[in-house]
Amino acid sequence: MKKIAVMTTGGDAPGMNPAIRSVVRYGISQKLEVMGVFRGWWGLINEELKPLNRRSVSGIIGEGGTILKTARCPEFRAQEGQQRAYETIKKNNIDGLVVIGGNGSFAAAHEFYKKFNIPCIGVAASIDNDVNGIDYTIGTDTAINTALDAIDKIRDTATSMERIFVVEVMGRESGFIALTVALAGGCEDVIIPEKAMEMNVICHDIVHGNLVGKMSWIIVIAEGAGKADDIARQITEMTGLETRTVVLGHVQRGGRPTAASRDLALNLGKAAVDCLIAGKADMALGLTAGKIVEVDFKTAIRKKELKIDNFYKLIKILT
Ligand code: F6P
Repeated sequence: MKKIAVMTTGGDAPGMNPAIRSVVRYGISQKLEVMGVFRGWWGLINEELKPLNRRSVSGIIGEGGTILKTARCPEFRAQEGQQRAYETIKKNNIDGLVVIGGNGSFAAAHEFYKKFNIPCIGVAASIDNDVNGIDYTIGTDTAINTALDAIDKIRDTATSMERIFVVEVMGRESGFIALTVALAGGCEDVIIPEKAMEMNVICHDIVHGNLVGKMSWIIVIAEGAGKADDIARQITEMTGLETRTVVLGHVQRGGRPTAASRDLALNLGKAAVDCLIAGKADMALGLTAGKIVEVDFKTAIRKKELKIDNFYKLIKILT
């Protein structure tokens, strides 16, 4: 292994930059040449890459987003796109690839490895925390704290004006962000894709709460479970009470990575380089039970089961 390339693909996640920094500086310390690929698979298809040195990654450790840019790349699904990406790899004498991204990126990397035998190591980075076999991905902690900060602020106005808020958070098909911030934010209810929605129960609780003087509510909904506006409208129809909605959206993807996101990124970046040097391939790295784990891509891209019961019960008990 003489030369490796690193890229970020799919939705950006806070912590991608420290992961790049780690791959570059650790790679160089191991006498590797490191190339940076721009805009993920798109950059391989279009030969947009350049050598990176220690200075190329100066000052990025605390920056959100990714200096390598990222993109969703439908062209890579086609045989022609994959072939062109392979040609870029060969032309530039790249021996291994570090793919920083989520399960969509890993599905693509798995395909690429199977077809062209180019060693790919994934570094799990996604705010959704939906990579199977991995407890924590880079960016999750930051996104949760961003969403929590917003919910704390919404709480101030909800309490002051005695209102019901429905707050929509990201997470694609996963309710992880929603469940975590609902508990941490003392929210009254949470609606997630992993659990059947019970509007009757939610509305009954609100009406009953009002009778005993509980006038403000924050209900968190994961984007994969529906739209905040629809839920708010149903609550108003069923209870006669006024509601407000907030869709947190892409704000959850930005901002300075927290210490947890940075440390994870720095450790996983190094571990990815070690894996390539050791001749490993076709696997993603993440954090499980406090340790860095290697999960083969095939497992990583399977649907992750979210254990909801304890969280959900606690949210309801503590309301
Ligand atoms: O996967 C990260 C994520 O932010 C999801 O939570 C969300 O559903 C999706 O990306 C949004 O993607 P885009 O920025 O391409 O609209």
